[in-house]
This record gives sequence, structure tokens and C-alpha cells, in this order.
Amino acid sequence: MLATMGALGLAPTAEAASREPVYRAPRPGDFTLTGRGAARVVIVGGGIAGLATAYELGKAGYDCTVLEARDRTGGRNFTVRGGDSNLDLYGNRQTARFADGQYLNAGPARIAQWMVTLDYCRELGVPVEVFTNTNSSAYIYNEKAGMTAPVRYRTAKADVYGYVSELLAKATGKGALDAELTADDQERLLEFLRGFGDIGSKLAYTGSERRGYSVDPAAAGTPGVELGPVPSASEVFASGVGRYFSFEFGYDQAMLMFQPVGGMDRIPAALTREIGGHRIKTGAAVEKITDKAHGVTVTYRQNGRVRTIDADYCVAALPPNILAKTAHNLGPAVQTALEACRPSSAGKIGLEYRSRWWESDHRIYGGITETDLDLAHVWYPSYGHHGRRGVIVGYYNTGASADAYAQLSPREREARAVAQGVKIHGEKYRTELVSSFSHHWRQTPYLEAAWHSLSGGPDAPVFDPLNKPTGRVYFAGDHLSYADAWQHGAFTSARKTVTALHERVLA
Ligand code: PHE
Repeated sequence: MLATMGALGLAPTAEAASREPVYRAPRPGDFTLTGRGAARVVIVGGGIAGLATAYELGKAGYDCTVLEARDRTGGRNFTVRGGDSNLDLYGNRQTARFADGQYLNAGPARIAQWMVTLDYCRELGVPVEVFTNTNSSAYIYNEKAGMTAPVRYRTAKADVYGYVSELLAKATGKGALDAELTADDQERLLEFLRGFGDIGSKLAYTGSERRGYSVDPAAAGTPGVELGPVPSASEVFASGVGRYFSFEFGYDQAMLMFQPVGGMDRIPAALTREIGGHRIKTGAAVEKITDKAHGVTVTYRQNGRVRTIDADYCVAALPPNILAKTAHNLGPAVQTALEACRPSSAGKIGLEYRSRWWESDHRIYGGITETDLDLAHVWYPSYGHHGRRGVIVGYYNTGASADAYAQLSPREREARAVAQGVKIHGEKYRTELVSSFSHHWRQTPYLEAAWHSLSGGPDAPVFDPLNKPTGRVYFAGDHLSYADAWQHGAFTSARKTVTALHERVLA
């Protein structure tokens, strides 16, 4: 019966059920049998977790108020457009000068197909488009490994797969795998390796058209010239190019990936619209959370004035490192758990160019160049192809590299990023630049973290106090999920908290 209902769309199908636990949003009708009414809920933090909490509770008529310390909702979901400005903890003020239609997703920028973030985009009417996370035309450049010029991903893959296949075929031929594989198995393995590495019947890698061409194949008379010379196996392994290939095997990073059309902040903008602007107070920095026997009082400062708000429940959806610095009466176990959420650093710079030279000159349409430089990754935009301008992410780095850039002035950050990018892309990386905007999460007021690391994961005993309410105070955030540093984690954590709170109100 369930299967039939599933086919009719009346029950979750087995396939959907295997992907995620069924979530059922609170509904107004839930209260009719119990006679109870929706409660007043104050939500601290207007990032994705806080907004999703207000949005989901709002479906059943809960009276929600969101307190957001910054002047806009979204939290780390921050899309920088021309005119947007930001002040970091070192006192650097930047105002973006990007042209109309150009933007930098300073925080989240890619969504995997399995993530509930896409369900929210569908539900909220936020159009999405493909985000190109890997591109065989993008570059790899390992300066410390002695590379003097970048290689294309496709070239690196052809060489690494080719030599690995040849070596495995050789080992098989010498009987090194006789204990593991039957003669038939070995034949099948060799068949796989011939295709995987393009090593031919001689089982030797001598280069491949997969490496690319110095003259592309064209009309009759122009068969193309394959890229050469082919490096030796030793040179290929010494260059370290293969270390980046496994990135795209990850469950959360595999293509296809998606982004909202026009900027990631289309998501918080849609949530904010659905919740209703009158329910959201921006510029409202929480100063104290007090759990009481029959309610919660939250003290906050807005426009220099201290105010309080009373509610039946509170959902603390602000970063744990910020809550740890905020007065509360939630007890030492909560405080210990909050302090055990270790904040991480990450930064990005958006470089706006007056021409899309990476498309016209380098034939790169989106994707990511990988390096061992301190800029780490260079992202080419997955929108606006063939347009006039474009914004490249000139660095997306984490940890010590991110903090090193953060300590520089915005001008110095730009100069350092450009000086390194020139090594890969040539002089246009400098000469076509019109403006830049850099952003560092560890140094951003009221956030002070790109994401958090929870030793042992969110279910480790020390974090127990955050996975259940303390009195009438609940917690939510991507850090309390197995998808930290993803909006999916914030959404699913919010759903879990909403479900628990709603069950309690109905009980
Ligand atoms: N979600 C972020 C990103 O995709 C941070 C992250 C990176 C998380 C890599 C997991 C793995 O850039």
C-alpha cells in the first residue's frame, strides 16, 4: 500500500526515504486535535539555520522573532555586489565596486545535488544553474614541486592515469598480483587499464590525445598536433599533479554541482521574504540569554539601546564561538561544549576583470585551478560566459594562509594574489584587473569563523548539551551536523530542532 501511495505522491518513495530521513514541516492543523496554540519563539542568529527555523515554524503559525546582529540576514551566506561594504575586526573597511550583474559569493558557493539546500531552492522559487566545480581545461600549478608552467587538468590526468596503468600492468605481467587475482581477473584488469590509461596493446604509456593539442584538430589537412613532449613517469609523480584528482570523488564535491542564479544570497533573501521583514530585527546583537521556568528572556542591543524580548522558547542559531562569549544561564556543560567548537579560518578575494580573457585566451569556462601557492584555489565564474566583465576568485584559502592574507590591508591582499596569479595566467591577470573585494570569516564581526571543527563529530559526548534543549533553549547550526561548512548542515540541523520543539509544544 505504501509503495502505491508513494507512486501517487502520497507517501515518500523507498528511494527518497533512503536518501534522507523524512522531514515533516509543522502545519497549522497540527494544533486542532490538541487545542494548543503556536508558541512565541525568539531565534538568535539570522543565518541559514536561524532563518530556516523561523521559516519552518512559521508554516504552523508560530510567532517567531529573529535577532540578527549584522545589518543583513544570511550569516556566512554573503554575496558581494557593487556598493556592498564590510568592516573587518582589524578595522579595514571595503566597499565593492563590481559592475552591475557581477558578484562574489564570499561564503557558500556550491551545492551538491543530494543536499536539501536544493529542495529549499525549489520550494522558495530560487532558480539554480550549474556550478562548474571541476574543469579539464583548468590548470594545476605546483611551484614548490618545481613546475615552471601550469599544466591543464586533462594533461595531468592523462599522464598520471597513463603511468599508473602502465605500472599496474607491468606488476601484473611480473606475477606480482598472482596471489590476489586469477588469470581471468588479470585479463579483465588489463582490459580496464588499457582504456583507463590509454596504454594500447603494448601496455605502455607513450602519451595520448587526451593530453590535449598544441594545434587543435580542424578541417581536412589539419589533423592537429598533440601536446608534447610527454614527461617521464618520474617527472609526473615528482610534480605532484595527481594530488588534486580525488577532490572530485568526494560525495559533497562531485559534479554536477549547482548555484542560485544571480548569487547565493538569493536563498536567505527568499527565506527573509517568506518569514516577513517585520519578524526580523537586524543590527540586534544578543547580550544575554536567560532560561526561566516558564519562558526565556533574551537581552539584546539595537541602535545603542538595550532591549529585552520574552518568549516561550529560544533557538540559539548563532555561531558557537560567539555564544560562548555571550552571557547565559545555560550551565557549565553547555559552555564547555560551545568552547569545544573550534573556529576555522577561510578567506576569498573577488577580482573583477574588464574582459573575460580566461575564456577567450585560455579557453576556460568555469571550474577551478589548483595550486600549492598560498592562494590555494583560483575559481573562474560559472555565470556570465561571453559577457563583458567577470569576477574571478583569486584566492580561496583556509587556515594559516587565510590568516596571513587577513593581516594584510585589502590593497596588499590584492597585490599578493595578483602577483601569484600572474605566474599561472600571464600579465593580463594584472593589466585587465579593475577592482577587488576580499573577505575573511575569522575576522568578521559576529561570526569570527568560516566553520568549526568538532573533535569526534557532533555526536561526541561533549556536544550532547547542544543536541538537546537546556530548559527552553534549543540550538541549531551547521556545526551540529555531519555537513558542517555546508548550508545543508544548517538546514538539516534547523529541521531537527524544529521537529523537537514542535513535538514538545504538541505534547
Ligand atoms: N563547503 C565549503 C566548500 O565547499 C567548505 C568545504 C570544503 C567543506 C571542502 C568540505 C570540504 O568550499
